Amino acid sequence: MNKKLPPCPAFQHFIHGADYNPEQWIDDKSIWDKDMELMRQANCNEMSVGIFSWSTLEPREGEFDFSFLDEIIDKIHATGGKVILATPSGARPHWMADQYPEVLRVNPFGQRNGFGGRHNHCFTSPIYREKVRKINTLLAQRYGKHPAVIAWHISNEYSGECHCDLCKNAFRDFLRTKFDGSIDNLNRAYWSTFWSHTYDDFDQIDPPGPITETGIHGLNLDWHRFVTHQTMDFIKNEVAPIKEITPDLPVTINMMYEFYDLDYHKVADVIDFASWDSYPEWHNGDDAVIAEKAAFWHDLYRSLKQKPFLLMESTPSGVNWKPYNKPKRPGMDVLASIQAVAHGSDSVQYFQWRKSRGSSEKFHGAVVGHDGTADTRVFRSVQETGRILKMVDEIAGTVTDAKAAIIFDWENMWALDDCQGYANAGKKYFETCYSYHNEFWKRGIDCDIVSRHADLSKYKIVVAPMLYLTDGTAAQNLTSYIKNGGTLYATYMLGTVDENDLCHFGGIPGCGLKDVFGITAEEIDVLYPSERQHASVDGQEHELVDYCEVINLHGAKPLAVYADGWYKGLCAVSEHTFGKGLAIYQACRDSGSLKDQVFSQLLDRIGLTSNVASPLPHGVTAHSRTDGKNTYIFVENYSGADSAIVCLTTPMLNLLTGDTESTASLPPYGFGIYKTK
Ligand code: GAL
Ligand code: ZN
Repeated sequence: MNKKLPPCPAFQHFIHGADYNPEQWIDDKSIWDKDMELMRQANCNEMSVGIFSWSTLEPREGEFDFSFLDEIIDKIHATGGKVILATPSGARPHWMADQYPEVLRVNPFGQRNGFGGRHNHCFTSPIYREKVRKINTLLAQRYGKHPAVIAWHISNEYSGECHCDLCKNAFRDFLRTKFDGSIDNLNRAYWSTFWSHTYDDFDQIDPPGPITETGIHGLNLDWHRFVTHQTMDFIKNEVAPIKEITPDLPVTINMMYEFYDLDYHKVADVIDFASWDSYPEWHNGDDAVIAEKAAFWHDLYRSLKQKPFLLMESTPSGVNWKPYNKPKRPGMDVLASIQAVAHGSDSVQYFQWRKSRGSSEKFHGAVVGHDGTADTRVFRSVQETGRILKMVDEIAGTVTDAKAAIIFDWENMWALDDCQGYANAGKKYFETCYSYHNEFWKRGIDCDIVSRHADLSKYKIVVAPMLYLTDGTAAQNLTSYIKNGGTLYATYMLGTVDENDLCHFGGIPGCGLKDVFGITAEEIDVLYPSERQHASVDGQEHELVDYCEVINLHGAKPLAVYADGWYKGLCAVSEHTFGKGLAIYQACRDSGSLKDQVFSQLLDRIGLTSNVASPLPHGVTAHSRTDGKNTYIFVENYSGADSAIVCLTTPMLNLLTGDTESTASLPPYGFGIYKTK
């Protein structure tokens, strides 16, 4: 079985490149020629161009000038490189904002932004959509068949929302459709008799905001859904002419870290492959912790399309927008690049190729600095990554066959954060999901990140942290997964509200999950930040923080019991056999060691093993990719101080040395890439 799924079928190799904005040097094209030479020296084979080029491409309304793109794409092609071509809608020319103010965004106070910044556009405006369609059509006609162009990069980092009248009306239509035109249906779903907030007509509904309504949780949730829906609609409008003219070229959007505004599980439907911009804050604390979080997002982007993704942006040194912009220490850039590949990326791309001379990003890391030479530590590190990617090129296109998954769900996050209850100081959804992901990461087990409605059938274990919003469809999904033999590990707050943020009646977890887990959840003790409680597993005590939920057993048996508090002796972690599977419920939040003990026993029990044969030291992890025949193992050491030796499961071919080895020997910030023989 061949399991290669290359994101860009026209170029089935690792992509090594950068965001390239050559229009900044249109008056000194000698720099373009130097760039081509440096590109070759840096072992780069791709450039992403056109990302913010609109004012160069259409300097006056309807007056198009593609000469710079013609020239640069030809130059890259002549150097042997490929191009990922962007649509320019992330920023617009001044004339457009002057002529058509409706293209600019309106804030929640009803004020329209002036011209400036980027991503400052209304996603409903018919004029903006028409302008975008026009330029995208011309780009597709002109470059769609160019042999260098391998994919489309649609806009840049879609984000934010607009409160203009066009958007308000679109929101009202979205709600009309959702509630079958019945305002009574909406009132029931929004529980609007509370505080006399009953609506008489859809036209009365405003988006939630600081000077309108914030207390109707169903409305807040629907606004988030609408922002996702309308952004997707905008993307569809961008993609339509492109697909008509270049049906074979795949499209992507560049997504982000800990991104809140859009439900990417949904947005994935309108793109052909996923890509994202990764900027971890390396060296700010334990690099193992930082690596695990970055890994979570790599895993998410791979899971979105269940195939390789592209690392669209990363910095080869530091960024310029964090409180402290530290360059990566020697070794970390290559390791962080290989991390992306280990998790399923088919590219390592940087922001940016060459540092701007002026404006806001002039001190952002780049492959080529203001000195303009190849003689820098950063350039040599990029060269090294390119050299390694060439050596392991056979891995491009291979997939990850994860047997574990975490449910991370945007709608659940929005509802959780919005709910007034538990700890309003912060629900810590990201952190909680990371803490469970870490149970797989630190053991060298591949893990997908999926939504509550995803097909779970291929997983041996699924973890559903804080799945507060559980609608009937999700509950059914979880139930049949367990019934058919899956192991589901859920936590406190499971099954509390439905898709409209209305509390489930008749005890929780709702929608039949009480029977599946053999428990009912009665109340939650919320701990103050300095407070600690404890629970014991087989006589071993563990520290608990934040939440201790009190549950009653109805068929489940305890795996852990509370060791103190007024719930001493009651169940803290339960287990219940249901159908052919296992339903585990962790009622408390622990500091880490309880999970560690429970997962060690559980993973042994269900026979889910590591990608390597020996336990991994702190900060070391292992991931795999496969083409269905060969398995590739990546072992990575995020300790900048300690070397590590890791036993492989069988003698393997070290792709970087050509030797056959049974152990991976990793210096600080070192890694190994192995192939099964
Ligand atoms: C990204 C963005 C790039 C650049 C980069 C700097 O979010 O897409 O254009 O601004 O950040 O880190
Ligand atoms: Zn708008």
